[in-house]
Amino acid sequence: MLVVEDLHAGYPNVPVVAGANLSVGAGEIVALFGHNGAGKSTLMKGLFGVLGRCPGRVTFDERPVAGFSTRAMTRLGMTLVPQERGVFPSLTVKENLQMGFWSSGVGRATAKAEYDKRLARALGYLPLLEQRWNDKVGNLSGGQQQMVSIGRALLAGPSLLLLDEPSTGLAPNLVDDIMALIGQLREEEGMSVLLVEQNVGQALAVSDRVYLMKGGQIIHEATPAELAESQNLWALF
Ligand SMILES: Nc1ncnc2c1ncn2[C@@H]1O[C@H](COP(=O)(O)OP(=O)(O)O)[C@@H](O)[C@H]1O
Ligand SMILES: [Mg+2]
Repeated sequence: MLVVEDLHAGYPNVPVVAGANLSVGAGEIVALFGHNGAGKSTLMKGLFGVLGRCPGRVTFDERPVAGFSTRAMTRLGMTLVPQERGVFPSLTVKENLQMGFWSSGVGRATAKAEYDKRLARALGYLPLLEQRWNDKVGNLSGGQQQMVSIGRALLAGPSLLLLDEPSTGLAPNLVDDIMALIGQLREEEGMSVLLVEQNVGQALAVSDRVYLMKGGQIIHEATPAELAESQNLWALF
């Protein structure tokens, strides 16, 4: 579903990702692990179009999409939940979710029905959002804001969700909730997920495949079982 080949990404005069290769299959949950500064967020942003045209190939649903804008990516069915969350604090929960919906470019004729359908599903997964529906997002806790960020992404109707450290700063019970939600989205919606996580143990429990990243490169690919068993793989870090 997603294939990234020899992708280079970075910032003006700061090369970070140096020729990364990875793939995510349909309905697959793939974890990307690496220390702070390894380039995980830069890789996510690069493949999603946040950093403008990056050298390398990105294929989504068999379509070459390198150089596409984030808006175009979202319309095709890929959505990023960024590490910095990217919610609008001065807007309400409702308004943040509506913005997620409109970012996906649904035509007017079907918009109302599609919005109602996506919203009902998202609120089923994230019932807390309904309780805070008319509250400004800036007044919510960090964990609640993360739920808004994920809810907004779900309203875009993605088939592939890019999640950059969704559990950062969350209480342990909320980390469990997020990991359970990722599994549910795959089981019930057939969604594919590329997940960057520092909670390695919990991410391994929901993942089908794992990449290790170091110094701007993907240095290893493994199954969760291989990673759990092998001391040598951890020594690579
Ligand atoms: N906006 C930016 N401008 C310049 N350098 C950046 C920027 N964002 C991140 N970097 C640098 O890119 C490198 C990789 O960062 P990042 O992709 O955020 O790593 P990770 O997500 O794995 O922690 C770091 O050295 C970081 O300082
Ligand atoms: Mg990061």
